[in-house]
Amino acid sequence: MGGRAAPDLTVGTPGTVRALLRAIPALAGNLPVFDPEAAPDDPVPLFAQWLATAIGGHVPEPHAMTLSTVDPAGRPSSRVLICRDVDAAGSWYFASGAASRKGRELRVNPHGALAVYWPQQGRQIRVRGTVTPAGAQRSAADFLVRSPESRAEALTGRQSDVLEDPAEVEIALQEARARLAAAPDLVAPDWTLYALTADDVEFWQADDQRRHTRLRYDRTDQGWTRTRLWP
Ligand SMILES: Cc1cc2nc3c(=O)[nH]c(=O)nc-3n(C[C@H](O)[C@H](O)[C@H](O)COP(=O)(O)O)c2cc1C
Repeated sequence: MGGRAAPDLTVGTPGTVRALLRAIPALAGNLPVFDPEAAPDDPVPLFAQWLATAIGGHVPEPHAMTLSTVDPAGRPSSRVLICRDVDAAGSWYFASGAASRKGRELRVNPHGALAVYWPQQGRQIRVRGTVTPAGAQRSAADFLVRSPESRAEALTGRQSDVLEDPAEVEIALQEARARLAAAPDLVAPDWTLYALTADDVEFWQADDQRRHTRLRYDRTDQGWTRTRLWP
């Protein structure tokens, strides 16, 4: 692996982590300027523009986003997922096993929140909305374009279960690979493409002088309203 050597940490020394953290610059560099007055009426084209800039600017894995869900007691939980699509209706798509923690939580409480951060541009986007399964056909289509390893993993259907013995994973994967080899069109019954349909979307542009620019879109019956927020 390339890159800088990991710092030499003396585990347990008070203040070590704090010192490491304070030495890291944040929101530095030559950041783009975001003019909210010129922003489109709809958040989706703006998301697409910012995504294209992130891809062009070599942000690693710019399609990774954090999804937060809540359990029945209202305790939130977050994890990183891959964004599979964003459509003109203002839905953000991701795919996962329905039996996973997120799948179970979303069945009880469909409210979810997404966040992405693209450091090369100092840009954050936050999306809140209601999450619904996109349907069996679209889930199957998502499953079938995945790599063989990803399909085998999904076919085990055990995501987020307690793992009693790590050897069980290899056994389950071997079984899943054999099933897929015998039936290449097999679809994991639990695999689900989810759509988070946005109620609001916030675009946040960092400024190295801390004059950050924030623009929130709120969905209404007629379309979207736009509101500037204090940094
Ligand atoms: C970069 C990255 C991409 C990921 N993509 C997915 C994904 O698309 N779908 C998925 O189910 N898990 C994905 N994961 C794993 C999740 O973060 C998480 O560990 C898993 O979905 C179980 O979450 P849960 O127990 O809250 O349901 C990804 C993790 C990382 C770091």
